[in-house]
Amino acid sequence: MSNFKPAKWPRKLRSTEWFGGDSRDHIYHRSWMKNQGLPADLFDGRPVIGICNTWSQLTPCNAHLRDLAERVKHGIYEAGGLPLEFPVFSPGESSLRPTAMMYRNMAAMDVEEALRANPLDGVVLLAGCDKTTPALLMGAASVDIPAIVVSGGPMLNGWFRGERVGSGTALWQMSEDIKAGKMSREDFLEAEQSMSRSPGSCNTMGTASTMASMAEALGMALSGNAAIPAVDSRRRVMAHLTGRRIVQMVKDDLKPSDIMTRQAFENAIRVNGAIGGSTNAVIHLLAIAGRVGIDLTLDDWDRLGRDIPTIVNLMPSGKYLMEEFFYAGGLPVVIRHLGEGGKLHKEAVTVSGESIWEEVKDVRNWNPDVILPVDKALTQSGGIAVLRGNLAPRGAVLKPSAASPHLMQHRGRAVVFEDIDDYKAKINDESLDIDETCVMVLKNCGPRGYPGMAEVGNMGLPPKVLRKGITDMVRISDARMSGTAYGTVVLHTTPEAAAGGPLAVVQNGDMIELDVAARRIHLDIPEDELARRLAAWQPTVEAPKSGYIKLFHEHVEGADTGADFDFLKGCRGAPIPKDSH
Ligand code: FES
Repeated sequence: MSNFKPAKWPRKLRSTEWFGGDSRDHIYHRSWMKNQGLPADLFDGRPVIGICNTWSQLTPCNAHLRDLAERVKHGIYEAGGLPLEFPVFSPGESSLRPTAMMYRNMAAMDVEEALRANPLDGVVLLAGCDKTTPALLMGAASVDIPAIVVSGGPMLNGWFRGERVGSGTALWQMSEDIKAGKMSREDFLEAEQSMSRSPGSCNTMGTASTMASMAEALGMALSGNAAIPAVDSRRRVMAHLTGRRIVQMVKDDLKPSDIMTRQAFENAIRVNGAIGGSTNAVIHLLAIAGRVGIDLTLDDWDRLGRDIPTIVNLMPSGKYLMEEFFYAGGLPVVIRHLGEGGKLHKEAVTVSGESIWEEVKDVRNWNPDVILPVDKALTQSGGIAVLRGNLAPRGAVLKPSAASPHLMQHRGRAVVFEDIDDYKAKINDESLDIDETCVMVLKNCGPRGYPGMAEVGNMGLPPKVLRKGITDMVRISDARMSGTAYGTVVLHTTPEAAAGGPLAVVQNGDMIELDVAARRIHLDIPEDELARRLAAWQPTVEAPKSGYIKLFHEHVEGADTGADFDFLKGCRGAPIPKDSH
């Protein structure tokens, strides 16, 4: 049983302020709505449910969400609600420049303001591609009306010449193979046709699948939501059932703040370790927690994930893809496993009104090669390692399950790239003074530096190293890494270089020490030399003069607290705004 106590029904709903009366203004609000062919009795005081849709053809991973929205509507009508679908800005990962991350906060603002300003009593959040899930959760958390997530679901497996093609993961691998002379460009172009076989989000345990899993682990989606393939009929059933459920959530007044408690975030962090989830989840969960006023920190990530084995055998850490994860039983199996191991707050309430344990306690694992037994885990410490030291005073992260064991303790000579353009200009130069023992350092790719904190932290290796058959080197940056990527990559170094963090003053030839077991990242130069360099540091990234990018540059916080805007943190609730007439 969960601790949640449903509110007494009926009570006055927000939408009544717009639709529930016979004044001029009530008539005004209803009458215009009726131009859509809505019968009068739909304005009889029933819950009005928004369907917040990140559908966009520019976000191909979400391009099927209008179909799912129709399924949600069926469920809402059946349960006695009035559905009203509306669009919000859709930050699509594959096309947006400089990076979709620069627009996550903008999308979250869009969601928050749309929810508060409109006659809505509850909302269904339709998300899929990486940034859409956190953006919608952040916006909904700041308004705190009943909310529930439906994910678009992952694409079907990609297949090329008998091999699985994982979204992103295969692309990074093939591009390295080309540089190493192991693959022809013709084969690469042929493989392109096999990568994205169906509607849906990336089919690896990349950021989209991770964030769908985080939504489910937080209790913000119905159990089983994360893994159902986009084109499976059960995805539509999930949307339909979610539509039914949100109406009851409004009646019970079950809000994000009732669900996204500290216990829920701790559950999600542990789930992330067990699934080998994306490092991007760190940033997004910190930001979502900030919206509900929970003081989640990087140390929570390290502490809670440290002893969680990664048991989900999916790319980029493992072998399979989301389709197979679904057939094996999906996320409920993983959550049950954590509960049996004493690593779950079982009483945490979910959108169902039940405890998370109640939802998963009877599920079965149908394929132990996809969801592994603990003694066959991909790694015994699957969480996110949070590193600190004079190079990252406020922290940096590394994903052990995607890293090479032989590089987890390493000392090497720094080869520095001042920004991404510098990296691109030098990396293919055969005269670059670099070998596999070096540490590649990339600066000015953090939230302010890029701007937006691009997924360039897993920078490709130099061709002359790749030709030796070397596939991994230690890389350090203030950037992020795609959830589909892999390698011994230190990310999110904070403070970032563009804010004058120590990363900014690393020079070619400096020695750097990485010790993941000790959670240490160290620039091996004398303390007074580091202080002298930092005192002499001058910003190299020009401050934008106008537009959204100026707002972003001035207000984005560091990766260590979620890269939210400083003025958006916290919950502002859903007070009814003044009428417009
Ligand atoms: Fe959209 Fe991966 S690019 S989910």
